[in-house]
Amino acid sequence: MKIVVIGGSGLIGKKLVPILRQRGHEAVPASPSSGVNALTGEGLAGALVGANVVVDVSNSPSWEDAAVLKFFETSTRNLLSHEAVAKVGHHVALSVVGTDRLSESGYFRAKIAQEKLIKNSAIPYSIVHATQFFEFLKGLADISFDGGKVRLPPVLFQPMAAGDVATEVARIAVGPPVNGTVEIAGPAQFRVDELVRQRLASLKDPREVIADPNALYSGAKVSLKTLLPEKTARLGKTHFETWLTKSAAQDPSRKVS
Ligand SMILES: NC(=O)c1ccc[n+]([C@@H]2O[C@H](COP(=O)([O-])OP(=O)(O)OC[C@H]3O[C@@H](n4cnc5c(N)ncnc54)[C@H](OP(=O)(O)O)[C@@H]3O)[C@@H](O)[C@H]2O)c1
Repeated sequence: MKIVVIGGSGLIGKKLVPILRQRGHEAVPASPSSGVNALTGEGLAGALVGANVVVDVSNSPSWEDAAVLKFFETSTRNLLSHEAVAKVGHHVALSVVGTDRLSESGYFRAKIAQEKLIKNSAIPYSIVHATQFFEFLKGLADISFDGGKVRLPPVLFQPMAAGDVATEVARIAVGPPVNGTVEIAGPAQFRVDELVRQRLASLKDPREVIADPNALYSGAKVSLKTLLPEKTARLGKTHFETWLTKSAAQDPSRKVS
């Protein structure tokens, strides 16, 4: 199959494209750096010629409320309309576990809008809800840095390795559209503040992490289980400790995730 990966140069896209090729598919990475812009529509028609599946693993360069909403609404509208013309049979989009419970957050309102457009379109689809990536833990510290400290709510989550996300997205992309949402997650639960503290320590990042029950997660109030997947979620194999050891071995001098 010809599978176009929107955001093919990103964290998940770069792992997804080789997995699809290994399985014998024609995987085409598409993003602004390769002349395809889902926001402006530039290059989309050409990239989608003959495509069977489009996988959207793009992300907005800005997470400011209005910018991120514009990104996911406009890019998703553009993708779906070009897919209709190209007769694409399956639209796969990567989103986040708990998105519907996080509407206080501008980022998650944008993801809700993206999912709504997909569900209301005529293109058969699969929405993949993944939990937070291990690779995102430092980013989570960055967006939670307030008053000289990282403030995080002491709630549970079940994060996963980006490699496992790519494996699951590949499996779903080559299968039939589910016309619904599937959840994927990591093998173990942690407290958000504890794991971010551990990740920053591994990066020798001196920022202090405070467990603050009033702290918001990406701008949204969360309770103990808001970020957890359902029991039916498919679980990735990679444990945090294994990932941490591997990522340190790959680049011991690296200070950012
Ligand atoms: N972070 C997490 O923990 C997490 C958890 C669950 C789900 N997700 C979801 O996973 C997805 C990927 O997120 P990420 O943070 O991993 O992505 P990322 O590494 O930041 O990659 C972003 C990708 O989007 C592309 N892109 C940017 N603007 C574009 C445009 N106008 N048209 C087409 N492509 C564009 C970039 O292309 P260039 O390189 O060419 O600019 C890049 O390939 C997001 O939808 C996010 O909601 C994230």
